[in-house]
Amino acid sequence: MKALLLRMPPDNPDPEQIEEAGRIIREGGLVAFPTETVYGLGGNALDPASSKKIYAAKGRPSDNPLIVHIAEWEALDRIAAEVPQKALMLGRIYWPGPLTMIFSKTEEVPYETTGGLDTVAVRFPSHKVAQALIRASGGYIAAPSANLSGRPSPTKAVHVIEDLGDRIDAVIDGGDADIGLESTIVDFTEDVPVLLRPGYISVEKLREALGEIRVDPGIIADNSGIIPKAPGMKYRHYAPKGTLSVVEGRPEDVIRTINSLIEEAEKAGRSCAVLCADETASSYRGKVYILGCRADEEEVAAALFDTLRQLDTDGVEYIYSEAFPSENLGAAIMNRLLKAAGHRIIHAGEESL
Ligand code: TXA
Ligand code: MG
Repeated sequence: MKALLLRMPPDNPDPEQIEEAGRIIREGGLVAFPTETVYGLGGNALDPASSKKIYAAKGRPSDNPLIVHIAEWEALDRIAAEVPQKALMLGRIYWPGPLTMIFSKTEEVPYETTGGLDTVAVRFPSHKVAQALIRASGGYIAAPSANLSGRPSPTKAVHVIEDLGDRIDAVIDGGDADIGLESTIVDFTEDVPVLLRPGYISVEKLREALGEIRVDPGIIADNSGIIPKAPGMKYRHYAPKGTLSVVEGRPEDVIRTINSLIEEAEKAGRSCAVLCADETASSYRGKVYILGCRADEEEVAAALFDTLRQLDTDGVEYIYSEAFPSENLGAAIMNRLLKAAGHRIIHAGEESL
């Protein structure tokens, strides 16, 4: 079965097509849709069978919970048993937007949606098409990123079609995702809020709003011993098919190291490429994929997943990436990049070349 393709501008949802997509979800089907972060794969969050279908379509382990998307504040009461004051305050600043908050769940939310947990992750997206679809679907859409499990999250409708085009009922093409990285996740089920996944809303901004915030050690761990609290963060993710390494160090050392690695790989007859910032692109030998200006984190974030997919399409076998600054949005960029690299880090300047 081929997914029905619906097209509309991001800021002007088409009422007829939205009604059709909403009906598909109300009847237990799956619709992929745009949000300001990445495309989501939506099903009725209150229907266990729909959540099971989402896991099957993505090939996702069923212990990895789904985020429930709402389109109005009033919808929260039915799914969250307790919403602390701090969460209300943070929500007043960042909802609707790229923020997911975790609460203890009510009985209305099936365990199929929460991966067996007693908590529920909730997001109120700002994207107009997402909001219209949520309303037309009954108010509660469970949606993981609309990629096959393990692949980079989709930032364009073509990415969704590539991964899931023959596994779901419909895809709404509402243009490219603005942000390009998944939402910031904050857990409010403990006394001090805990950051479980870095995103567009940085830890610096969270601290400003909340005062105290803990960062889940699983976020920066190299996948070895520490189990992250967001189950999805433990899985290999975003990985291109080629072998990706991140090279850290002073810029001149990074350039020298990458060029020498490329030379070696080329001698061995491997296809290889460099993932880098605009400023240094001309310093590399061989093929370069530019993520954007180093100083413009938003540009780099928006380009990352699309570029990782492009590397697959082009069949690149060895990829060497520059590291990016890890303040503010940079923390989310480096989190995804290091996951994509399976934490393969080369420290330039420490080796004797
Ligand atoms: O930006 C986003 O959040 C996108 C768009 C579509 O909204 N969605 C998204 O969903 O990234 P997904 O399923 O790809 O990632 C959800 C993450 C996973 O790491 C999952 O383990 C975690 O959220 N999560 C969901 N519910 C949770 C819960 N109750 N407790 C802890 N972690 C949870
Ligand atoms: Mg995902």
